[in-house]
Amino acid sequence: MRERLLAAEKVKAIDWRDGVLYLLDQRKLPLEDDWRGYRTAAQVAEAIRDMVVRGAPAIGIAAAYGVVLGLRERLAREGDWRDGLAADFELLAASRPTAVNLFWALNRMRERLDRLEADVSPAAALGALEAEAVDIHASDREANLTMAQFGMELIRKHSAKPQQVMTHCNTGALATGGFGTALGVIRAAHLAGLLERVYAGETRPWLQGSRLTAWELANEGVPVSLTVDSAAAHLMKTQAISWVIVGADRITANGDVANKIGTYQLAINAMHHGVRFMVVAPSSTIDMNLESGEDIPIEERPAHELLAVNGQRIAADVEACNPVFDVTPADLIDAIVTEKGVVERPDAAKMANLMSRKRLH
Ligand code: MRU
Repeated sequence: MRERLLAAEKVKAIDWRDGVLYLLDQRKLPLEDDWRGYRTAAQVAEAIRDMVVRGAPAIGIAAAYGVVLGLRERLAREGDWRDGLAADFELLAASRPTAVNLFWALNRMRERLDRLEADVSPAAALGALEAEAVDIHASDREANLTMAQFGMELIRKHSAKPQQVMTHCNTGALATGGFGTALGVIRAAHLAGLLERVYAGETRPWLQGSRLTAWELANEGVPVSLTVDSAAAHLMKTQAISWVIVGADRITANGDVANKIGTYQLAINAMHHGVRFMVVAPSSTIDMNLESGEDIPIEERPAHELLAVNGQRIAADVEACNPVFDVTPADLIDAIVTEKGVVERPDAAKMANLMSRKRLH
């Protein structure tokens, strides 16, 4: 399956080449294929905030490369590069609040920095941080492969017949360093003949579902039907959907899951209709420092994302409330699939046990 998955890998959104970070601008997909080059930490922080790059693992990877760019810039200037770099870390950390992969990646970069000798040469410091960022990127890709197989096996454990599944937001190649978390499982299920159809919610207001997920799946010939987000309960009742499969931006120590706004209502609907609910996320998305989902900062994005489309106002002249993530409590989740293993019916003890395991790859 690993080889078949690798052969199916077509899209990528992050490229590190000759010391420049290239990002596929996700604000313009699927209409335009616009790759942009980034040369400073400040530019990368802005790209994360403006969602040129998005999706929890992808944000973390971009931030890691942002630190490398920051170091190169600081080394070229007068003064103590360590002070300057501390400011870059802060800027990158302030770009988006909910996905913990951002802070996880920055911590890894900071720890690597702390392990450097005090008199390290500029070239060696740059080389060490670049290697760390490349490793963060490569290990996310590996984690995607492992999770895809685990998730696919979980689907097969419950039924060997082709299934209809529902997904939300975009959790594919565009959101990760590989070919996806939830979408990776869906791809693997398709390759294994376990998938009849994917119902992808459009994911208002940013339309990750209709612009990105539908595009990724259609490009690969995976049968996909786009739905309005509010069709979910009706479809679960009428379409023999067996799984909802989603990603995560932060999973707390008790197994609560923050993900794109609308995930919580999908989980409630799934429970009501007897549909299984699977969350797929690398261990870099798990935040054992937070006890429960109540502690997760939920990002609110600007009202115009809701009130206008492509700059064209589509709503009445009112205030808008635009929280872009919500928290699904652990007791609505059937399984959390990570590269370290699968936790069924998650709780604090099972999450602690999972996180005590070594990486499998
Ligand atoms: O606001 P976004 O597009 O960054 O939100 C993305 C999501 O909510 C994804 O489901 C999550 O990051 C997992 S991506 C593998």
